Amino acid sequence: MDSTDITAKRTLLTDTSLEIIMAHQHAGGAFVASPSFSQYGYSWLRDNTYNAYALLLYGQEEGTMRYLNWVSGTVLKHRLIIEQLPGKLETGGPLANSDFLGARYTVDGGNDESDWPNFQIDGYGSWLWLLSQYLEKIQLQEIPGKWLESVHLVLQYLSMVWNIPNSDCWEEHPDHIHPSTLACVAGGVKAISRYLDPSARAAAETLAGTIRSFIIQYSHPSGRFPKYIGSESIDASLIWLSTPYKIFPADHPLMRNTVKAIERQILEEGGVKRYPEDTYYGGGQWIILSAWLAWYYLEEGSPEKARPLLDWIIRQQKDDGTLPEQVLARTNDPSMIRPWEERWGPVAAPLLWSHAMYLIVDYQLSGYYTIQKEKNHA
Ligand code: BGC
Repeated sequence: MDSTDITAKRTLLTDTSLEIIMAHQHAGGAFVASPSFSQYGYSWLRDNTYNAYALLLYGQEEGTMRYLNWVSGTVLKHRLIIEQLPGKLETGGPLANSDFLGARYTVDGGNDESDWPNFQIDGYGSWLWLLSQYLEKIQLQEIPGKWLESVHLVLQYLSMVWNIPNSDCWEEHPDHIHPSTLACVAGGVKAISRYLDPSARAAAETLAGTIRSFIIQYSHPSGRFPKYIGSESIDASLIWLSTPYKIFPADHPLMRNTVKAIERQILEEGGVKRYPEDTYYGGGQWIILSAWLAWYYLEEGSPEKARPLLDWIIRQQKDDGTLPEQVLARTNDPSMIRPWEERWGPVAAPLLWSHAMYLIVDYQLSGYYTIQKEKNHA
């Protein structure tokens, strides 16, 4: 593909991605993860942070605001869970998934009643982070009154659960603590802290600092972050510790070593896998993760490394305009593609989160060159 071709495809993918995300936002503010994949008809806080963030970057603040509203309303609807948790934790007995807030809901904020692991806390931290980005973009100095109560409930919830093992962002390993989950929690708490009153701000800063120290304390002996505390493996979601949650700067030695391990073990020709042992649909290359590595490279100041990843994503756009969740050209275990296809059908496409991550990097990369140009002319 020559460069004219890729430029035209980039423009097309940008337009299509925005259209897809906007078309699948429900009136109440939620987005389903994938409108055409049987298992993805829920609204995940994790995916949606980025769907709503992409809208914010592309001037669609109203959509972002409606999503923020939806989460706030959903938290208030389930507030009893937060209010009863201190008592339940105090008894010291085993707790059920239903004692915690969900990772995903129906579009009207109802529970997912299936037996899919639902205790995952990253999305609540991400929501706080998104809110801080929204407030900054529309230049508000304070959290609007309508969201104050849910923000405080979420802060209270995160302060109780951050060090309880829960499923990771891939909805696996419920018995472990995952640094990438902690990145979302500490990142969200830290980002929203400057909008809080002085005593709540101090508590939030202390919590974020405690989580950061914990992550350092449990880093891998080889000087990088582990997939989960005590694991020997690596995971692409560890990039979140730097981008976008800024718990560690891009050039922090632990971060650099983590990215080196990701490059060595799970990056292949522009496509990034989740982790070396992944066998979901064989364990292929994920659009969102290639975008994440590109975003990290931009923050690190290496646009020349980001560009090929973006081009790889652009080449994965299907004829119907959609981006899939993952690409199966290079998988960890090809024998696992068939069983998953038989179980749930072809890989999800469109995956709204894939489109959102493409948009975010496309935006950052354009901004990067604009800033460089301005610097050169100054
Ligand atoms: C992924 C999650 C994601 C969900 C919906 C799952 O397969 O592991 O990260 O939130 O799909 O897209």
